[in-house]
Amino acid sequence: MKTEVLKADAAGIARAAEVLRAGGLVAFPTETVYGLGGVATRDEAVERIFTAKGRPSRNPLIAHVGAPEVARRIAVFDERAERLVARFWPGPLTIVLPRRPGSGLSPRVSAGLPTVAVRMPAHPVALALLRAVDEPVAAPSANRSGRTSPTTAEHVLADLAGRIELVLDAGPCEVGVESTVVDLSEPDRALLLRPGGLPRAEIEAVIGPLEGRRPGEPVRSPGLVGRHYAPSKPVRLDVREVAPDEGLLAFGEDVPPGAKVTLNLSPAGDLAEAARSPFAMLRELDRADVRAIAVVPIPGEGLGEAIRDRLRRAAMEAPADA
Ligand code: TXA
Ligand code: MG
Repeated sequence: MKTEVLKADAAGIARAAEVLRAGGLVAFPTETVYGLGGVATRDEAVERIFTAKGRPSRNPLIAHVGAPEVARRIAVFDERAERLVARFWPGPLTIVLPRRPGSGLSPRVSAGLPTVAVRMPAHPVALALLRAVDEPVAAPSANRSGRTSPTTAEHVLADLAGRIELVLDAGPCEVGVESTVVDLSEPDRALLLRPGGLPRAEIEAVIGPLEGRRPGEPVRSPGLVGRHYAPSKPVRLDVREVAPDEGLLAFGEDVPPGAKVTLNLSPAGDLAEAARSPFAMLRELDRADVRAIAVVPIPGEGLGEAIRDRLRRAAMEAPADA
């Protein structure tokens, strides 16, 4: 299959909506990363997403919507979810809720779980596309399973050219890390399943403290553990000294000298700026003529929690799960 690349103008968006409605796969920009979309009510389209990515079928997908009422058709909202939606949608927040029975949502989207993850992205192209399709669109990040998430159309093509019908190109993503995933599927608990583009503190200001997974409790999100975002080279974290054959990922003005190649996430030490490029810079260092990748310490507050999470998982030695 030849993958078409279109500029994300009105004609491109109309064509993308047509491809989706016909059961095809379209990679499209969101404010976080590029997503690989297929209509979430069509089993064959959802099945093809798993095949194109090489994603294990037990790892559920996020249903993207162009308006909150589309999410309410497929998920059962409670009062906490409504407060989060009123405050943060459209935006980089995904909410896991009980599936609404009889909604027509493909069971594969949830990978057999009784819950569904819903998100209304803030990117104008994503919103225009979702509204034109007028159905929930299942969309994981548009990368091969286990690889770094794509923040440009070129990243998408590097992983998925020949495997999907279309890429809508709208330039680099603004946030750069994926959405924050909060699980509200149980009435008395709120879990942070994945730190992301919306800082934890902003969510906690609206619904109170977010819990982590309890020790011994089964993992709720198969895609949220283990090695992921993985370059082919070894990654070393929190370094203060680098070897001459290493590539360095730096942050702020305190840059250890001596690396073969140095890329800086934000010379000014700004976490929002830094969140835009960890994936692109990991890809670039992976391609550079270096033996390994070294990363300086990144502060853990605000968007730093998501950046640190992604780098930690890029550095893991266990095999990729998703
Ligand atoms: O920013 C984002 O969220 C991007 C853009 C494209 O919207 N999407 C994205 O999708 O990151 P993906 O599939 O790469 O990551 C979604 C994560 C997966 O790790 C999956 O395990 C988890 O959300 N997830 C999805 N549905 C879930 C559910 N019902 N229960 C628990 N976790 C779920
Ligand atoms: Mg992903």
